[in-house]
Parts: sequence; C-alpha cells; structure tokens
Amino acid sequence: MPANRTSVHGQWSSRWMFILAATGSAVGLGNIWRFPYITAENGGGAFVLIYLVCIVLVGFPIMMSEILLGRRGRRSPIHTMETLAKEEGRSRHWRLVGVMGVFTGFFILAFYSIVAGWTLAYMVRAASGMFAGAGAQETGEIFAALVSDPERLLAWHTIFMIMTVFVVSRGVKQGLEQAVSYLMPALFLLLLFLVGYSMTTSGFATALSYLFRPDFSQIGPSTVLVALGQAFFSLSLGIGAVMTYGAYLSDNAHIPRTTVTIGILDTSVALLAGLAIFPIMFTFGLQPEEGGPGLIFKILPIAFGQMAYGNVLAFIFFTLLMFAAWTSSLSLLEPVTAWLVEKTSYSRMRAAISAGVVAWVLGLGSLLSLNLWSEATLFGMTFFGFVEYLSVNIMLPVGGLFIAVFAAWFMSRSATFAELRLGNKAYLAWKVAARFIAPAGVILILLQELFGFLG
Ligand code: PHE
Repeated sequence: MPANRTSVHGQWSSRWMFILAATGSAVGLGNIWRFPYITAENGGGAFVLIYLVCIVLVGFPIMMSEILLGRRGRRSPIHTMETLAKEEGRSRHWRLVGVMGVFTGFFILAFYSIVAGWTLAYMVRAASGMFAGAGAQETGEIFAALVSDPERLLAWHTIFMIMTVFVVSRGVKQGLEQAVSYLMPALFLLLLFLVGYSMTTSGFATALSYLFRPDFSQIGPSTVLVALGQAFFSLSLGIGAVMTYGAYLSDNAHIPRTTVTIGILDTSVALLAGLAIFPIMFTFGLQPEEGGPGLIFKILPIAFGQMAYGNVLAFIFFTLLMFAAWTSSLSLLEPVTAWLVEKTSYSRMRAAISAGVVAWVLGLGSLLSLNLWSEATLFGMTFFGFVEYLSVNIMLPVGGLFIAVFAAWFMSRSATFAELRLGNKAYLAWKVAARFIAPAGVILILLQELFGFLG
C-alpha cells in the first residue's frame, strides 16, 4: 500500500524530470575529472569493468533504497527517517542518518564550490584566449596564480554559491526543474560535441584501448575498493540527496527502472568524458598520470592552446564542467533547505540563503587552505583535503550503509514491496544486495581506509 503522504515542497512534473534532476546530481566534477583519472591509475578497461559491477551490485540497491525511503517519507531526510522509524516502530535515533547527511552535504559543498569556482574562472580565461600557445609552464602558472589569490577565489566561490542558492530558493518546480531541464540537455550536447571532436584526433584509438581493453594484470589489491568509492560519490549516494529528490517523485513512477536509467546515464557521461579528454591528451603527448585536480586545469589547457579553435573548445569544456557542478550542488543544498522549511517558519528563500551562508563560510576554510593557511593541517591534511577526505571517504559510505541497512532490515516487507513493485525474484535480489552485498562492500572500504590511516 502507498503511504499516501504528500510533499510540502511540491512534486516533479514527470518521472523524466526526476531522472534529469537525479542525473544532474550524479553527473558532476566526480565524473568529468575524477573518473577518467582514476581509471587511468587503476588499470584502464579492467577498472571500468569492476566499476560497472560496483554500480550494479552496490550502487543500484542503495539508490533504490534511498528513493524508496524518500518517496515513502516525502520529507527532508531527517524528517523522512524520523517518520518512517516511528511508523515501523523503530528507534527515533534513525533520524541521525539524516542529520549526518546534512553535515556531509555542507562538507562536500565546502570544497565543491571552490572547484566549481575554478571552472567559472577558467571559462573567462578560455574566452579571453589566455591558453593560446601556452606550454606546461604557462598553464601551471595560470593555475597557481588563481589558487594563490584568495580574493579571486573568494569572488568565484561567492558567485557559484549565489547561483546555487538562487536556483534552490525558487523551489522544486520553478527552480530545480527549470535549471535541469535546460542544463542537462546542454551538457549532453556539449559532451557529444567534444567527443565528436576527439574522434577526429589521432589519439582516439589509443584512448579507446586505454579505457576499454581490460588488462587484468593492472589490477591491484585496492582497485575494487577504489571502484566502489567512486560508484558512491558518482551516484550521489549516502547523504540523502537522492532521498530528497525521491520525496518529490510521483507514486506511480517505477523506482527500479528509474534507478537503472539514472545509473546508465551517469556511467555514460563518465565514459564519454573519458572519450573526450584522453584522445586530446594522447594527441598532444600529455601524460594522464600527472592528473589529480591538475589534470583538467593544468594539463588540458596545454592541448587546447595548441589546437585550432582551442579557445572555443576550452570555453565549451569548462562551461560543461560548470553546468555539471551546478546541478550537483543544487542537490547538496536542497536537503537542508527542505529541512529548514519543514522545521521553522522560514520561507524557502530564507532557508536557502541561510544554508548557503553556512556552506559559504565553511568554503572559506578550503579557500584559505589553498593559500594563506596552506601550512595549517588537520590530521596531516589541509582544511580542503580534510573536508574532502572526511566527507567522501568516510561520511558517504557510512551514510549509504545505514540507509541500506534501514531499508532492508528495519522497514517492513509490505512497505518496501509496495514501493519497489518488483516481482518476487527481483525483490529478493534487491533484498540480498541491500542486506548483505552493499553493506559488506562498504565495511570493506571503511576497513581499508582505517588500515591506510593507521598503517
Ligand atoms: N555525484 C556528484 C559528482 O559526481 C557529487 C555529489 C555527491 C553530489 C554526493 C551530491 C551528493 O560530482
């Protein structure tokens, strides 16, 4: 039986809108620079295969769990967890999963908004022709000049946060839905255009085998764990972002089918990003291994600087990256905004601004840790490194673990069965994956992190 609740924040106008919004959340900085780079580091095609297995075995069951909880509770994650725990006769403390999600969202935003600010800055640099003819030294200097200048970073960070708050404050239909319905198709078009360009370059064949020829001798002991972590981050799982979007999903949408569509879209964008970026690098004899945050911001402009219409392509590329980051950051601010609206008498505008100010202030920490505070460390990391490590490597997996455990162990069968609407066999498959496989995978990642930390 459906729970017959409605969301005070409104509903997506269609299942496709939900898919666009959730894909907008999933596709972000994680896909466009992180996926290609860690693929390169972890054995190319063999890593891609393992990643796909992780998406299906861990990502899908957890995403289905998040959406089903969200739609059943129809409120922000804290209140959804509270409502469902009460309904199922479970401890009120399950709301802490939602509380942790709010904190994680702030921590991710604190570094996400800074990197997104770089993409804005690079759009301007591309448009002004700054990369034309630049070599490794010049592009290194352009990047260093940006990150060492707190005032410039502050300006871009502030602009990006205002863009995020602006959309979220307009609400589900007028804000989020409007934004993704323009940005996501634009993003796909831009990406296809870049892949089309890359196909004409001489490095395309090398890139293809680099990405898709599995060489299992390249697989190391931590490869599976890296793939699992990337699956989490890339699908936006573990913080209640997808749960919040699920709260605005209509009762007749089929959750498993929707999950599979989002997973395929997210994975395609990651693969297409690889197919856009690597051919350009190979064509110009650049080494992907020198990547990290510098892969896109330092190395790619060298290639753009040498090619015909390079400024235009660079501008397109950084615009794409900015769109991807923007639609992801909306889903980081929406859960806490929705919670404030439910909890207080705040208008949506006031709630979004308040949440945005908190994220902005936290972002100042990561901003300053790139320059004035670069000597100050927390557990051997700069503030930037610390919020990134804590949120991505610890808090997302822990959040995802609790979400899967709650949905598969603590919710009644009648509730999850009614939400998922699967046949008996497929339902059983979800239950086994959400009860055992996904939690075991996450616990393995955490143990690996712990041993890495201690050892
Ligand atoms: N999935 C986003 C990316 O790949 C990051 C993100 C994580 C967004 C968690 C929201 C929640 O960049």
